[in-house]
This record gives sequence, structure tokens and C-alpha cells, in this order.
Amino acid sequence: MELSAGHARELAKQAARKDTLREDCLRALDGVERIVFEAGCGHGHWLTAYAAAHPEQCCVGIDLIARRIRKAQEKCSKRNLPNLHFFKAELGEFLEILAPSLRFEMTILLFPDPWPKVRHHRRRMVQTAFLDKLAERTYSGGCFCFRSDDRTYFDWTTEHLQMHPEWGIDPTGDWPYERETYFQKMMAQYYSVLAYRR
Ligand SMILES: C[S@@+](CC[C@H](N)C(=O)[O-])C[C@H]1O[C@@H](n2cnc3c(N)ncnc32)[C@H](O)[C@@H]1O
Repeated sequence: MELSAGHARELAKQAARKDTLREDCLRALDGVERIVFEAGCGHGHWLTAYAAAHPEQCCVGIDLIARRIRKAQEKCSKRNLPNLHFFKAELGEFLEILAPSLRFEMTILLFPDPWPKVRHHRRRMVQTAFLDKLAERTYSGGCFCFRSDDRTYFDWTTEHLQMHPEWGIDPTGDWPYERETYFQKMMAQYYSVLAYRR
């Protein structure tokens, strides 16, 4: 089937974007074997504080919104943290372009957009395909930490984790590190779940 001109342009743009991201990641993460990963890091509050407290770990945050990533990068520069990297990237594209050998020791997702309407649920970052890809990249014993103010998204995530053969929920696990994010500050209550790669 022939592609429309618009669709072909979109695919070319996506390919160019992924090439640039791949090069940026290769340069910044040269020689790195394992990372702490934050998806949808927003202004980078949590990961900057975490990286400052854990200088021995390489921390990588991504977000779709350029302005938020710029703010996060400013924090990183101000605090002079060589173990911290932020990229403007979409989650699926980021997971595709990363060096195949790179592994995650921990992944954190804080207050992701809940997409409450049923017809928008497919836009949620937590999906079976995402948990599959994360499991491929995560060491046995590595963890996935999820926090949301939205009870239905929390239940959705818990159910997806419960059904997934590679992830096991740890109901007594300690939250790895507390630092309020921009969105957490606005929420009266929230729910957290921790899962370990089997
Ligand atoms: C509600 S904000 C939470 C930001 C931050 N985690 C916090 O707690 O302050 C959700 C963030 O996820 C980002 N985001 C949404 N979908 C994304 C995707 N597919 N890939 C990367 N980032 C995404 C948005 O741009 C937004 O900054």
C-alpha cells in the first residue's frame, strides 16, 4: 500500500528524531552498563535529588516536553552532577533506540498522566508491551516503582503487574527515595506500588 505524502513525511521526521536521540544517548552513556531510569520526569526534581544522593549510579530521565527537560537540565548543571542525564524523548522511542546491552536497575514512574477516559487508556504509559520491554532490560531483582494520585490508574498498574509473568509486586518493599515532585506537591493523597523483576 502506498503511503500518503503526509504519512511519509511523519515517518521521515520520526526516523530523524530517533537517529538524533540515539547519537545523544550513545555520547552521554558511553561505557555505561546500567541506569536508574525515570520515565516522564517532568522538571526533574526527583531524579536530580536521587542522583545527588547516589553518585555511584547513572541516572537517566526522559520527558516529552522540551521546556520541562530544559528545566531539569538546568538543575543538573547547577548541581554539577556527572551521573545525571536528561533527554527530550518519547518513552517508546527511547526504549527502541537504547543500546541493546544497556540494563535498568530501577525504573520510576511518578504521577504519569492518568488518561481517565476509557477510549484514552491506550495512551497510558503502563501497558503490557511496556512491562515486557522493561522486563527485558531489567536485572532480576531490579524494581519498578509507580506512584499516582489517580486510584483507577493505580489499580490498572497493579493489575497489569499482577498478570505479568516477569514482575512480582512487593507489598512490603520500601520506597527507594522520597523527594516531592512538582505534581506530588499538588496532590492531597497518592498510591504507590513496587514490583520486582523475577
Ligand atoms: C503529570 S506529569 C508528571 C511529571 C513528574 N513525574 C512529576 O511528578 O512532577 C507527566 C509527565 O509525563 C510526560 N509524558 C507523558 N507521556 C510521555 C511519554 N510517552 N514519553 C515521555 N514522557 C511522557 C509528560 O510530558 C509530563 O511531563
